[in-house]
Amino acid sequence: MSRTVLITGNSSGLGRGLTEAYLEKGWEVYGVSRRGCTDLGGKLKDIRCDLTDYEAVPLAMENLLMGISHLDLVILNAGVLGKMQDLADTPLQDIQPVMDANVWSNKVLLDWLLGSGIRIDQIVLISSGASINGSRGWGAYALSKATLNMLTQLYAHEFPHTHLTALAPGLVDTAMQDVLCDPAQVDETRFPSVAKLRAARDTADMPKPGEAGQRIAEAIPGLKQLPSGSFADIRTLDRH
Ligand SMILES: NC(=O)c1ccc[n+]([C@@H]2O[C@H](COP(=O)([O-])OP(=O)(O)OC[C@H]3O[C@@H](n4cnc5c(N)ncnc54)[C@H](OP(=O)(O)O)[C@@H]3O)[C@@H](O)[C@H]2O)c1
Repeated sequence: MSRTVLITGNSSGLGRGLTEAYLEKGWEVYGVSRRGCTDLGGKLKDIRCDLTDYEAVPLAMENLLMGISHLDLVILNAGVLGKMQDLADTPLQDIQPVMDANVWSNKVLLDWLLGSGIRIDQIVLISSGASINGSRGWGAYALSKATLNMLTQLYAHEFPHTHLTALAPGLVDTAMQDVLCDPAQVDETRFPSVAKLRAARDTADMPKPGEAGQRIAEAIPGLKQLPSGSFADIRTLDRH
């Protein structure tokens, strides 16, 4: 029987790279995003859903996972960057949509999964180095990913038969990096931490989504050596 994985935010970037990696391994992949990801072959079942439309999520998940009693893996990857700006210049209205996409949609999904009776071996929530770095300008995004780390730790108690990790995936050359690496959109003198990203682009330190997806898929089984609920960074995993 095929192994099964649910991946959120699989229409582009890392989620798409992960989808390709698991399809190549012969897994059944269940994907969800707003734009959808229907052009890949293999055992992909894909639906379109705005995960911040909380009332729509349960029905969408029921349709997507109808008849499924076991998932080997869930990767909660969907996320948004929000604006790079000083926190003092960031109104609450700018923080809310980032928290909605990066944190609360995952709470709604986890609650649905918990109540669904589906047996799940492992859940990986895609976090970020920004969750712990505290660099200038990463405001709403950093707050959301720090909260995601704690969400993971707290839910680990409530999923006693499932292993949870908040995983920073390292730098990946995606649409998020198009924004971060664009001087017209993010001023490097004001937010110096982006210099490292710009230097990493087009080098091995910022793989394309396909390569990053393969690398993360290979690392995921090893995360089970960490206590459930941990934060881990793919770049330092071998130091654990
Ligand atoms: N790229 C990096 O260097 C990097 C580094 C650290 C962490 N991350 C994390 O990696 C994850 C993937 O990001 P990425 O870099 O691959 O960016 P990306 O290419 O912009 O992909 C984001 C994905 O999330 C989905 N998504 C966003 N909002 C959604 C919503 N409301 N409902 C459903 N799906 C939604 C998008 O799909 P639709 O637009 O089709 O809905 C898209 O598939 C994010 O959690 C990000 O924070 C990335």
